Amino acid sequence: MEQTAAAVPHGPGLNSSISPSGPTHARLEPLAESDFETLTRLAGTIWRSHYSAIVGPAQIEYMLAGRYTPDRLREYLGSSERWMELLKLDDETIGYCSYARSAVPGEMKLEQLYLLQQHRGKGLGAMMLRRVESEARSQGLGVLMLQVNKRNTGALELYRKSGFSVREAAVFDIGNGYYMDDYVMAKPLEPPA
Ligand SMILES: CC(C)(COP(=O)(O)OP(=O)(O)OC[C@H]1O[C@@H](n2cnc3c(N)ncnc32)[C@H](O)[C@@H]1OP(=O)(O)O)[C@@H](O)C(=O)NCCC(=O)NCCS
Repeated sequence: MEQTAAAVPHGPGLNSSISPSGPTHARLEPLAESDFETLTRLAGTIWRSHYSAIVGPAQIEYMLAGRYTPDRLREYLGSSERWMELLKLDDETIGYCSYARSAVPGEMKLEQLYLLQQHRGKGLGAMMLRRVESEARSQGLGVLMLQVNKRNTGALELYRKSGFSVREAAVFDIGNGYYMDDYVMAKPLEPPA
């Protein structure tokens, strides 16, 4: 049965960490207020290096400034509709993912999936994705969807390999004269066993 957003308990478990069965001891932990500074720095490092060839530096700064303010990040704390988890390796934060109940009933949206360059290619991105899928399933949701820039070929490859297909191509006006030229992708989810 489909659950409403209000009826869903906080998925990731505020007091627990999740250890992936990956090639490292990386673990996912829910975002805390004490992580805001680290996360903002990490996002800046990843975005400036990854997106400069895709959207250009001015748009990157505009998007970073809008998304990683304390007020925006607080929306993930204790929410029953959106979640952010940090990927930690020992004491270092090396990546993060966020996801939220979409406006469409029965759907979860993968909002963000980011990993430092030096940790890519070891299955950690796929591990974070599986975590989000599993959380969506356990909330009774049948679809995980996302938006990805059409020129973000590496991420597109990951999503295709993970069972997503393109639902539509769409241009999103994000303000200040900037646009996102994206694919909307979706993956049907099997109910939990
Ligand atoms: C996307 C991202 C999270 C993937 O993380 P990752 O740990 O490198 O990915 P994985 O090692 O788990 O790869 C999983 C699968 O996707 C494939 N894949 C991942 N990145 C790829 C790339 N750049 N090119 C081709 N295939 C890729 C892998 O080959 C692997 O396939 P396999 O299971 O057949 O071996 C990471 O590359 C990243 O942070 N990129 C920059 C930010 C970004 O674009 N985020 C997505 C925004 S929508």
